[in-house]
Amino acid sequence: MTPSDVKATLAFSDGSPSMELPLYKGSIGPDVIDIRKLYAQTGKFTYDPGFLSTASCNSTITYIDGDKGELLYRGYPIEQLAVNCDYLETCYLLLYGELPNQSQKDEFNHRVMRHTMVNEQMQFFLRGFRRDAHPMAVMTGLVGAMSAFYHDSTDINNPEHREIAAIRLIAKMPTLVAMAYKYTIGQPYIYPKNDLSYAGNFMRMMFATPCEEYKPNDVLVRAMDRIFTLHADHEQNASTSTVRLCGSSGTNPFAAIAAGVACLWGPAHGGANEACLNMLGDIQQNGGVAKIGEFIKQVKDKNSGVKLMGFGHRVYKNYDPRAKLMRETCHEVLGELGLQDDPLFKLAMELEKIALEDEYFVARKLYPNVDFYSGIVQRAIGIPVPLFTAIFALARTVGWIAQLNEMIGDPEYKIGRPRQLFVGASSRDVKPIGQR
Ligand code: ACO
Repeated sequence: MTPSDVKATLAFSDGSPSMELPLYKGSIGPDVIDIRKLYAQTGKFTYDPGFLSTASCNSTITYIDGDKGELLYRGYPIEQLAVNCDYLETCYLLLYGELPNQSQKDEFNHRVMRHTMVNEQMQFFLRGFRRDAHPMAVMTGLVGAMSAFYHDSTDINNPEHREIAAIRLIAKMPTLVAMAYKYTIGQPYIYPKNDLSYAGNFMRMMFATPCEEYKPNDVLVRAMDRIFTLHADHEQNASTSTVRLCGSSGTNPFAAIAAGVACLWGPAHGGANEACLNMLGDIQQNGGVAKIGEFIKQVKDKNSGVKLMGFGHRVYKNYDPRAKLMRETCHEVLGELGLQDDPLFKLAMELEKIALEDEYFVARKLYPNVDFYSGIVQRAIGIPVPLFTAIFALARTVGWIAQLNEMIGDPEYKIGRPRQLFVGASSRDVKPIGQR
């Protein structure tokens, strides 16, 4: 962190002494005011529910400029990574800070693809779940359980353990997601095939059966790989902050990532792709394009509780750059599968057009986010809707690990412990039960 020459002064209208606060400059983005000594010097906390103005850490991994609609992984624009690199190269970049050269890429691919198999006991653990359990409920359990299966890599303070846990998590997530899917439909698990690409192997584990040969379709594999790349990291979002906070207690990496999976499940976060597709399905059922006007009216009515899922973002106040790429992939996949006239895709395009012109959305700077189109792509590929968020978790695992490892390696890292503004009852005496 680079200290700035500028200082902030905090003054109080009641005559209490003012305080000078240091400022730090990032390489890009807003400066931050260092308030760490505020409580010690003034006896006051800051108040920022939802962290609207609070940087919880310094980081070198991902940068977002929400107004410009810019997303950089380690300085590289997402548009360039999505076109020129595959997901495992992106993982390497997020974990180690630089894009790999050919031999580094080959070695990393080999390392990841040699860890794709899970302990055979995992399938018996899986059997404890109901067949109709939500895949995210299953994934939260399976990822948490990894610490029981791989307890030789659970010391978060040991860099070697962190490295092995990272590779294991990235390698085994596709296997676990595919197992969770096969379990719900009652098909045999398909073991990984390590000579396939990361995304190709995942698609085979999802869609192959032992009865016939399965050849992954290159266009669909590329689309899946792009979904992974676009979801790989997104700086200090809710699930990443959860992983950091959970890991800050010194718990093991598998437990911290399981906490991230649980957080991602919510419809305001990773669950939005599932919620978005369900929303499109509902509009379609209730009259489709002709009923968009009525639906938008409901969205704008604060009492209806209806939101336009896949729209809006805490940070992007412009078009989410990932949504643009996902829209492109959507065209490619639907073209490949002969589904250009897919009614949900047409509905989504129409909904987007109308929303982007509507004063309500314009005034609030609400634009489509990545999930607006990723659901349509996944559905076309054959992924069942409840599995969408599990695939997001698979892709985001690398971001969670990179952020967790960055935090543990930071000499300034402390256990996360926010403060509160207490507004409840002040101290009072317990009365005997007959007098209450
Ligand atoms: N539909 C309708 N109105 C919306 C929407 C939406 N999707 N999103 C925000 N608004 C409105 C809010 O009601 C608020 O209106 P007001 O100023 O009149 O009260 C205004 O826009 C500002 O929104 P906030 O809720 O303050 O924005 P916040 O940053 O807290 O929320 C969030 C961001 C949670 C993503 C929100 O936009 C939302 O719920 N979107 C739908 C769910 C979604 O798509 N989530 C995916 C996020 S991306 C991801 O996780 C990969």
